[in-house]
Amino acid sequence: MHSGAAYNVRMIAAPRCELSVDDIRLGDVAFWTLPDADREGAFALLRRERPVSWHEEFEYPGLPKGPGFWSVTRWEDVWTVSRTPDLFVSGQGSNIGDLPIELLEFFGSMINMDAPRHTKLRLLVNKGFTPRTVARVEEMVRERARRIVDAVAPRGACDFVSEIAAALPLEIICEMLGIPADDYRRIFELTNTILGVGDPEYATTIEELMAAGMELFQYAQNLGRERLERPRDDITSTLMHAEVDGERLSEQEFGSFFILLVVAGNETTRNAISHGMKALTDWPDERRRWQANYERYRASAVEEIVRWATPVIHFRRTATRDTVLGGQEIKAGDKVVMWYNSANRDEAKFPDPYRFDIAREPNEHIGFGAGGPHFCLGANLARREIAVMFEELLRRLPDIEITAAPDMLLSAFIHGIKRMPCRFSAL
Ligand code: HEM
Repeated sequence: MHSGAAYNVRMIAAPRCELSVDDIRLGDVAFWTLPDADREGAFALLRRERPVSWHEEFEYPGLPKGPGFWSVTRWEDVWTVSRTPDLFVSGQGSNIGDLPIELLEFFGSMINMDAPRHTKLRLLVNKGFTPRTVARVEEMVRERARRIVDAVAPRGACDFVSEIAAALPLEIICEMLGIPADDYRRIFELTNTILGVGDPEYATTIEELMAAGMELFQYAQNLGRERLERPRDDITSTLMHAEVDGERLSEQEFGSFFILLVVAGNETTRNAISHGMKALTDWPDERRRWQANYERYRASAVEEIVRWATPVIHFRRTATRDTVLGGQEIKAGDKVVMWYNSANRDEAKFPDPYRFDIAREPNEHIGFGAGGPHFCLGANLARREIAVMFEELLRRLPDIEITAAPDMLLSAFIHGIKRMPCRFSAL
């Protein structure tokens, strides 16, 4: 085992809140610069005192400020919103700020659509995620995870995020889509730019966001066109040739779906893996328990990692009629934001919610969404990636641990870790 001072700063040991409920401004960038413990404390206060509350919107330079939004913080209410898709629609946007409808579909594809278009597109893309494809991917995940561990093993230390956590989902989604290995790096940079908007390290302007989206879109169109003519054994070929009711995906639809897939495939699972490693460092008893009996806790540990990490912090809907939610009146046209991070710590649903427990049972977390038509298409793939990565890490680098506080992404949407050093006994 290596020696050296043990790093011992639990990220969410004790939520704290020095704000009064009236001072919690979820639409203020300053709130999202607070450490996790303060954010957790603020959401706990909202759940207790004002579970559905109104907030002013973020201000972006050069864009008009939006009308404000309702914040839904309790598990029960998030569940209701997610499962009532005719009352709470996605077609007017699934993030807080407003974008013109063309841009919503350009960037968000099906995530910003409602039935019947959403249903049709989802049926089509399901053809790319058949049991056969998923079975093939499973072998690929194992092989890639081994290679990633092989590459760092002799060094004894590395950046956990870029060299371990991010590498796996990037390679898997790119390989599934049939993207050549030389292009992985560029795809990764572009997805970082899209989900890093708001964090000055990645992008600061709408122009930069648009440029990244456009580059991905054109890349996808070229790839799609090529596979339409010369199909191969990848999901791009399957998707370009799939039909529902005699209709195929247009190049435009494929381009937008490609953006959604590479962004969703890259930026979520890697944060689950990073937060998972951090949690296993912070909770050594849980780690020993898992290491002693990997198979027994495999499924429950993966679910707990996703609950703990909650890589996607929110999605938004828009009310189509006047209604009442959690005792609060909501008007037709109001924006309604589901805070998954808060629902996943709701003490009414999860006993001892700030405890990381790899055997938590039941664990009805909503990290992949709270059900309904948009439930995460990649949930099984993500579960598989997380399970295999930790199996390889805990078996082959059994003393791996995080050695400094994570460098967090500034975002109200992605619970992201940008960098985080780790060390282990070199092989
Ligand atoms: C731990 C990893 C992941 C998390 C936490 C996550 C989370 C989510 C969430 C919260 C939603 C919205 C659900 C809703 O509105 O009901 C979603 C949708 C989606 N996810 Fe994931 N995701 C993950 C991994 C992936 C991966 C690996 C892929 C791709 C292969 C993927 C593809 C998608 C797609 C395409 C949608 C939109 C589905 C629709 O609109 O019908 N996700 N995900």
